[in-house]
Amino acid sequence: MKIRVLGSAAGGGFPQWNCNCANCHGVRQGTLRAVPRTQSSIAVSMDGGHWILFNTSPDIRAQLEAFPAIQPREGKRDTGIAAIVFMDSQIDHTTGLLMLREGCPHQVYCTDCVYEDLTSGFPIFRILDAWNGGIHRHRIEFDLPFSIAGIDGLRLTPVPLSSKAPPYSPHRLNPQPGDNIGIVIENLLSRKKVFYAPGLGVVEKHLLPLMRDADCLLVDGTFWREDEMTVAGVGSKPASAMGHLPQSGPGGMIEVLNTFAKPRKILIHINNTNPILNEDSPERAELAHHNIEVAYDGMELEFFA
Ligand code: MLT
Ligand code: MN
Ligand code: ZN
Repeated sequence: MKIRVLGSAAGGGFPQWNCNCANCHGVRQGTLRAVPRTQSSIAVSMDGGHWILFNTSPDIRAQLEAFPAIQPREGKRDTGIAAIVFMDSQIDHTTGLLMLREGCPHQVYCTDCVYEDLTSGFPIFRILDAWNGGIHRHRIEFDLPFSIAGIDGLRLTPVPLSSKAPPYSPHRLNPQPGDNIGIVIENLLSRKKVFYAPGLGVVEKHLLPLMRDADCLLVDGTFWREDEMTVAGVGSKPASAMGHLPQSGPGGMIEVLNTFAKPRKILIHINNTNPILNEDSPERAELAHHNIEVAYDGMELEFFA
């Protein structure tokens, strides 16, 4: 099982087009040791030729162009994308589907909540109906592991996460299990397991055993602190109101991750305000001290043996 990090930033990317925070300014000027990042998505494959996309970011075109293994090989029109799995219905995770319209119909896996959002508040599935039928939708149900046609030896186990539905969701103010999910991605041959959760507001009890047992955690790295948007001078929403658990502080992601001995720990979906993007920052050093890595675009992970 191979994982390619297509994009590692949160919504807006890094740098964000209209942002002049210390990080965005510094990376543009070249005064900060940091690498630009596109909006979060990963691709997973067993054979290196057929891939499952987890989320489709607005940056998908550049992400695919940077990744030869997923590009056309045969015939005039071709792709290595076998299926698309949505973790939520956020703009930064779904808009890329519109960029893939030339390849419709796509095999799309999502919960009923996400399906509702993407056919009502943000009706991209409806829009794509006009392109060769748009999508073939497959329902994700909790505690019902599933596999993807054409990808042998891989099992996906979805779990509900406490996070937030997007602002345009009909149930924005009425959170439901299924708004945001985590997935255990398992290689059935090697039994290696990766837990992927780019949006994770609270590490609830039901997640502890599966996180402890995973070989790798690829989890929400959006914010360093609860009041980060305010401190950076770019907003007022606390991390928790956006459905993200900050890394620092009591009960923060570092403390939670420290309780797991086995898994490799990697943060993904990093907001451009987060000081961990600065490779010379004390916050980045603190992560390193706790053996926590920061995902970058193009990062590749293998879980065969
Ligand atoms: C989030 O996960 O909270 C998003 O990145 C916000 C956004 O896309 O604007
Ligand atoms: Mn996001
Ligand atoms: Zn910024």
